[in-house]
Amino acid sequence: MNKVETSFLHKNQFGDDFLWGVSTAAFQIEGAPDTDGKGRSIWDVFTSQKGKIKNGHHALTACDFYNSYQNDIDLIRELNIPNFRFSISWPRIMPSGVSPINEAGIAYYNKIIDSLLSAGIEPWITLYHWDLPHDLELKGGWTNRESVSWFSAYVAVCVQHFGDRVKNWMVINEPSVFTGAGYFLGIHAPGKKGITNYLKAMHHVTLATTAGAKIIRNHIPDAHIGTTFSCTHIEPATSSSKDVEAAKRVDTLLNRTFIEPILGLGYPQADLPVLKKLNAYIVEDDLNNLSFDFDFIGLQCYTREVVKSSLLIPYIGAELISAEKRNVISTDMGWEVYPPALYQVLKKFNAYEGIRKIIITENGAAFPDTLKNGKVYDIKRTHYIQDHLEQILKAKKDGLAVDGYFVWTLTDNFEWAEGYNARFGLIHVDFDTQQRTIKHSGLWFKDFLS
Ligand code: NOJ
Repeated sequence: MNKVETSFLHKNQFGDDFLWGVSTAAFQIEGAPDTDGKGRSIWDVFTSQKGKIKNGHHALTACDFYNSYQNDIDLIRELNIPNFRFSISWPRIMPSGVSPINEAGIAYYNKIIDSLLSAGIEPWITLYHWDLPHDLELKGGWTNRESVSWFSAYVAVCVQHFGDRVKNWMVINEPSVFTGAGYFLGIHAPGKKGITNYLKAMHHVTLATTAGAKIIRNHIPDAHIGTTFSCTHIEPATSSSKDVEAAKRVDTLLNRTFIEPILGLGYPQADLPVLKKLNAYIVEDDLNNLSFDFDFIGLQCYTREVVKSSLLIPYIGAELISAEKRNVISTDMGWEVYPPALYQVLKKFNAYEGIRKIIITENGAAFPDTLKNGKVYDIKRTHYIQDHLEQILKAKKDGLAVDGYFVWTLTDNFEWAEGYNARFGLIHVDFDTQQRTIKHSGLWFKDFLS
């Protein structure tokens, strides 16, 4: 294959220990929603409801990873990617969310882990990437305090069965996004709305994050334990004090609310007064159970947001000015392409004393790809990745800690409420035939990693 040279970046510039990988999530790739005894998840239910997903898309087949995982693992190896992040579907392991265990689900993930290891690829497991068992949602889902015990029991099963071979674990993926979109705005599963649902879910998810981490630590003493946060560089639209204050509130909501309790700093209530309402759900020992000494924190950064003050928006008093309104270059998600955001986010999180190690566990872009003569020339995605890697180098040069970079994502997949039109993959998928085509970005990454 021809070399795909489009930049002067070299892997060696990042250091020998720098971790390179690619990230995925079960619901976005697996399909097979009720095969081999799997239970329904909140996303199975949400996608079956009318009008929830763009173009009526669903994830009944998705990328068919459930059946074609071997082919995709071969592709990961072909791309020279040494680390693969995937999530476990809770309802595959425990169909109703609690015992009994579905042995076929355990067998499935055992096959994936063994196949990765025999291909020389290190498995990185995310325990929760948004697909809560539907039966638990019927009992209130994350708004029910019992969710902490349900999740703990599920984590114990996973570490018992996979912990002998898997050392890299991430407890919860992007809590601010799934609680915000799923329990406050109602635009993601389970489609709940309102401040009460949101705050209860927030507190229980935070407790579940540390409870899960402790279980991993107890079962696998040499585990490398992390959890992942979505983070966005926030800027005020103007230097007026109103906008600056509004930006501070949005920054608190999007970047600080979930990590600070985990670092032992408590909820940032002073900078976002609505969080004081959380006190109604905090009982007895909770404050002692909110923190955990993670080995690493996974940061997932795609863009920046520009914020102006707005009296119309409840609780936060702020509004995001869209990339479209600002007339800046954006992706198919409507997110501004702004690589310095990654540098800024690294700087921000490096300032927390309690963080031992930072890994970028997701970064990537959705662009409208076209398959022409068996090729996808997605130069915008290639540049997006390269420009973000330049920001990592700049951060390293400035002495900021950052130890790894995982691209989102391997193949085009089911992008939640956006369906299949937002393509993020290094590999193109024809969703009618399941045909895979490595894009230019994938070929570049392969060369870069060789
Ligand atoms: C964050 C989520 O973890 C992932 O599921 C999603 O597809 C990407 N970002 C892109 O939106």
